[in-house]
Amino acid sequence: MTWQHWTISAWLAALLLRPIWAGDEKTKTQDKAPNPHVDSGLCTFCHAAPAGGRETLHADGNVSLLCRSCHDGRHAPRAVHPADVVPSAVPAARIPAGFPLEQGKLACLSCHDVVPGCRSGERTPAQNRVGLRGGPVSDPLQFCFHCHAREDYRPFNPHDQLENGRPRTETCAWCHTGVPDVNAPSPRSPSFALRAKSAGVCRNCHTVAPDHPVRAHLQATPSAEMTWYMSACEMQPKMRLPLAQLVKYARTTKRAPRMIPLDEAGRITCYSCHNPHERGLLPDSNPRSVGAEPKQATNHRVRSREGKLCPTCHQK
Ligand code: HEC
Ligand code: HEC
Ligand code: HEC
Ligand code: HEC
Ligand code: HEC
Ligand code: HEC
Ligand code: HEC
Ligand code: HEC
Repeated sequence: MTWQHWTISAWLAALLLRPIWAGDEKTKTQDKAPNPHVDSGLCTFCHAAPAGGRETLHADGNVSLLCRSCHDGRHAPRAVHPADVVPSAVPAARIPAGFPLEQGKLACLSCHDVVPGCRSGERTPAQNRVGLRGGPVSDPLQFCFHCHAREDYRPFNPHDQLENGRPRTETCAWCHTGVPDVNAPSPRSPSFALRAKSAGVCRNCHTVAPDHPVRAHLQATPSAEMTWYMSACEMQPKMRLPLAQLVKYARTTKRAPRMIPLDEAGRITCYSCHNPHERGLLPDSNPRSVGAEPKQATNHRVRSREGKLCPTCHQK
């Protein structure tokens, strides 16, 4: 029996033994693999012998293949960073000794330490849920600088997010701590799992010139009246009612604007005015897709339908 068949049959056996997985959400959970990292009884999902050890790993010791047998985006979340690549853009010499390569390649274990999970009873600490190497970091971007140099940042264009119409998921990692679902409905509160607060996600690469449009905007909080007006503006193309009437409607229903996101503290930030996503990443039906541009900007990625940004918030 190949290791993969073995894994699958162990899995099926586990499914039969643990009816909890076939509960209410039957169809949804059947696709999900059991989580072997937190269950000391599941050593044999990765090791051929219950006592474990590196030499007993399935997939003939090809660890990335073993990890990917579950982490394929369907049975368990996919990796957010490219793996199984021979370093070129990041010179191998820059990768610290604490991040082991596998046969010269960057692999899952280069960044993730799974051994604590092998010692039964030890759970990954909540502050380092994914078991990243290199010790705790103050902000998730710091982790990247173990290998990527700050000055190498610029050549990456994180706004280039599609390849043949499909998301290039490795680009998401520059701003998000995972791969958000592009088809999910817009969250009401800013829970986008962004890597840094407010302008921080953009400031890693962009500096803002002194003549940048009204720098005082940064961190300004729109008045309630302004938010009703913003709501009215975004409704107008669909509703075809006089603006004043729509403002009244927004005020009465306290409708928050959806097209223009504010930061986690309800303030204006870079991404209130600029759309960081490539056109086509979010479906057109999502108000957050307004103003998205191709991988090279055509109108400074401003969030507006007719290319005029100021009137989406200011009533002149
Ligand atoms: C998700 C897959 C996975 C599971 C589940 C898992 N292991 Fe491991 N284990 C590994 C990998 C991968 C290595 C090699 C780590 C390395 O070389 O950095 C390893 C290494 C080990 C080692 C050698 C550690 C060392 O310091 O060299 C032992 C012992 C071990 N595992 C025992 C266990 C036991 C016991 C369990 C169950 C409680 C378990 N493992 C569950 C993947 C797993
Ligand atoms: C038998 C299937 C299986 C295998 C093999 C497996 N994983 Fe997982 N892994 C899971 C599941 C299921 C989760 C939980 C996902 C969730 O909660 O959404 C998980 C979670 C994780 C997480 C996130 C931690 C968390 O709590 O969300 C990391 C990181 C991870 N795995 C890395 C690895 C690595 C590295 C390997 C290879 C050594 C590996 N996994 C092998 C099924 C697997
Ligand atoms: C252990 C070292 C290491 C760490 C830590 C690391 N990277 Fe990487 N990264 C690499 C290597 C090596 C490559 C492969 C690049 C190449 O040589 O082609 C790479 C490639 C990438 C790429 C793809 C580049 C491309 O050409 O599209 C992106 C995007 C990226 N890294 C982002 C990040 C981000 C964001 C972080 C922090 C969350 C991070 N990396 C942390 C080593 C690392
Ligand atoms: C260069 C470092 C690096 C490599 C290589 C790498 N990862 Fe990760 N991985 C990360 C970082 C960083 C995160 C996100 C944690 C964060 O930003 O909070 C992550 C997150 C994850 C998660 C959690 C995703 C989620 O949506 O919750 C899983 C699962 C995972 N990695 C699995 C893998 C697997 C499997 C491989 C090998 C195919 C791999 N990783 C290779 C750095 C890496
Ligand atoms: C340059 C930074 C950046 C990159 C790269 C990036 N995002 Fe985002 N993303 C953001 C910001 C900022 C927000 C919150 C504001 C918004 O909704 O536009 C966000 C929000 C989202 C949302 C929620 C949208 C909504 O309806 O409110 C989704 C879904 C999303 N991103 C998907 C992705 C995916 C998938 C990728 C990778 C292909 C990606 N993003 C890459 C910055 C980025
Ligand atoms: C109130 C809306 C608003 C805010 C907030 C805002 N911008 Fe802009 N930005 C604009 C407009 C409008 C332009 C086009 C300027 C022009 O026409 O000369 C622009 C231009 C740019 C450009 C291209 C021109 C240049 O200076 O290189 C970049 C890059 C940029 N903004 C980044 C940012 C970043 C990063 C932040 C947050 C620190 C930010 N913007 C905050 C409205 C805004
Ligand atoms: C990893 C580096 C990186 C990060 C992080 C990043 N950008 Fe960019 N940005 C670039 C590059 C490279 C370009 C040039 C591509 C282009 O022409 O649009 C660019 C272009 C832009 C432009 C168009 C500039 C122009 O000349 O019109 C705007 C606006 C912009 N980014 C806003 C943002 C915002 C807002 C964020 C945060 C949500 C952000 N960027 C995060 C690297 C980055
Ligand atoms: C995302 C919403 C938004 C956009 C887009 C926007 N503004 Fe503002 N603007 C504000 C907020 C909020 C304030 C602060 C209002 C207050 O405190 O009364 C403000 C204040 C101002 C002020 C007064 C500044 C001061 O120093 O008191 C001027 C002038 C201004 N905006 C011009 C513009 C121009 C020109 C544009 C287009 C480039 C623009 N705004 C785009 C929300 C916006």
